[in-house]
Amino acid sequence: AKAPVNVTVTGAAGQIGYALLFRIASGQLLGPDTPVKLRLLEIPQAVKAAEGTAMELEDCAFPLLQGIDITDDLAKAFDGTNVALLVGARPRTKGMERGDLLEANGGIFKPQGRAINDHAADDVRVLVVGNPANTNALIAQANAPDVPAERFTAMTRLDHNRALSQLAGKLQVPVSEIKKMTIWGNHSATQYPDLFHAEVRGEVAAKLVEQEWLRDTFIPTVAKRGAAIIEARGASSAASAANAAIDHVFDWVNGTPEGDWTSAAIPSDGSYGVPEGLISSFPVVSRDGRWEIVQGLEIDEFSREKIDASVAELAEERDAVKQLGLV
Ligand code: NAI
Repeated sequence: AKAPVNVTVTGAAGQIGYALLFRIASGQLLGPDTPVKLRLLEIPQAVKAAEGTAMELEDCAFPLLQGIDITDDLAKAFDGTNVALLVGARPRTKGMERGDLLEANGGIFKPQGRAINDHAADDVRVLVVGNPANTNALIAQANAPDVPAERFTAMTRLDHNRALSQLAGKLQVPVSEIKKMTIWGNHSATQYPDLFHAEVRGEVAAKLVEQEWLRDTFIPTVAKRGAAIIEARGASSAASAANAAIDHVFDWVNGTPEGDWTSAAIPSDGSYGVPEGLISSFPVVSRDGRWEIVQGLEIDEFSREKIDASVAELAEERDAVKQLGLV
């Protein structure tokens, strides 16, 4: 039998945690042959709620679930962890400036990066879900100098899945007929969902839709979907975010299918003019447990402008957290 994989989830008592933990424990994160041990990190006042979720996890009698530890202690939470899902974050509240938001999250992701550095397993893989996800990932990474930088990633898979679904609905095709979708840049309203490389049954998606739809409907619908969910549901996306986190880690560990790619925010190596080190979303494939940026795509003028705008926002966020001494 395979050795169990240690999976740490921060913000375990939150909405996404509740949608995520059962799927991890059932084997959907790593595959049906891999036993898991869960480490749930919460702030002290939410530990009891996490314990309640753990009771429910027990009550599912998942064959792959080999243990659950619940803690508010960073060293314990990340001890020997192989997969760290950093979900808990400080949300923007009324009157909060962007600088305040970055600083508050620095207070969370700096010590978490340090704890991952000091306690995690050598093969640790980190996915940051908590917003602002790209920059939180950068903060954690900068504070984990002994961990290879490429192990720190941020989630744009939900945006990717939203883009697939919007396009499938427009063209009335199954999602499975769409390949090579890309989200570029930041997980924010400036993100750029790219239809110029996406293919539908082998044809370029951008040529199958009206340019007005692409520009005035598709891009803003994908980019503002999070706000639309809050408006409709009265709470932010949770099950779909958890689903995307499952997709991201599953593909990272198990590889992406031949002839397709996905989107993930990973440290830039300078590809496509994205400054090295920024954790920006790219078209990526996963091979041998590593993300690789898909190379050689031609970027037209329209796409160039959109990518540059989102990357400029990431660079500003990086400058802001540098000034705060967080990276
Ligand atoms: P939530 O507010 O329901 O849960 C967050 C949990 O994190 C709470 O239980 C809180 O106690 C915990 N927490 C706060 N600080 C912590 C710390 N220092 N250590 C451990 N736990 C801590 O929020 P929800 O809905 O689960 O969302 C979590 C995050 O995910 C938010 O930042 C949200 O903006 C983000 N998100 C990201 C998406 C993406 O596509 N990247 C999509 C949807 C949400």
